[in-house]
Amino acid sequence: MTRKIIIDCDPGQDDAVALLLAFAANSELEVVGVTTVAGNVPLELTERNARLMCDIAGRDDVDVYAGCSRPLVRSLITAEKVHGRTGIDPLQIRQPSRPLKSQHAVDFIVDSLLSTEDGPITLVPTGPLTNIAMAIVKEPAILDAVDKIVLMGGAMREAGNHSPSAEFNMLVDPHAAHVVFECGTPIIAMGLDVTHQVLSTPDRIERIRALGSEAAVATADMLEFYNRHDMEKYGMHGGPLHDPCTVAWLLKPELFKSKRCNVAVETTSELTAGHTAVDFWGISGRPENAEWVYEADAAGFYDLLVEYLERYSR
Ligand code: BDR
Ligand code: CA
Repeated sequence: MTRKIIIDCDPGQDDAVALLLAFAANSELEVVGVTTVAGNVPLELTERNARLMCDIAGRDDVDVYAGCSRPLVRSLITAEKVHGRTGIDPLQIRQPSRPLKSQHAVDFIVDSLLSTEDGPITLVPTGPLTNIAMAIVKEPAILDAVDKIVLMGGAMREAGNHSPSAEFNMLVDPHAAHVVFECGTPIIAMGLDVTHQVLSTPDRIERIRALGSEAAVATADMLEFYNRHDMEKYGMHGGPLHDPCTVAWLLKPELFKSKRCNVAVETTSELTAGHTAVDFWGISGRPENAEWVYEADAAGFYDLLVEYLERYSR
């Protein structure tokens, strides 16, 4: 049986790879729609980049909806320093063949969840949580139709990547993240603790490139570009691959280890905004609200990525 998902993203090379992985898994995952948010780059670029991924994957059945152009309370922070000017450097930018849907992403999420007849939908957010929080606040009844939320965001052991104590998606919209972690729906949280184990080393990128399809070569090109910043920053032999961990968890959860605990998001301190206080040892007495993913089988993850990207024809 296929699992229905909505991917809410801010492509971003790693979001783009998450889309290509999900699109390849069309017998396991039914992508009901792709929604985009401002984050790595502004909204006009994230929606265009998502539509370009639909083209590269040959998925003219998937619609893209643009959502919020800024976080709930704070000013938008973008990350061109990491992702390049387009968000998906070094890919050639062309006009996507699919038009953007006119409906706002938040309304699309609400309508899809209120009208779903054949089973619940899993939300897969890989950017700041603005659209998801807005949808929950607009119509809390949608949560009855959400199977789970499998998100990329936060950090415990790895501290922060865009401030000393916060991961980028949490830092951009901590208030939205607070709403989502408090919503009561099962959450699988893939933070930096796990994504920093899944490194795109040169040999892994070469395996992907050798598949030869447009999707595989685009993935290899994007990962090579994306790596340069993080390899220098962390001194690792490959860059961490964050967002595709969410889709990989849906396809093969046994690649990951997780523990149920409370995750709370800092919203008031300017110094530590977006910090995720992960109560891994159950010290606070606060109720468990998430599965905190803390370990990945990196070799198995790249085998899975290659196996699915192989489905694209040369
Ligand atoms: C997250 O922030 C973005 O730069 C990536 O796309 C990923 O979602 C990692 O901190
Ligand atoms: Ca992202």
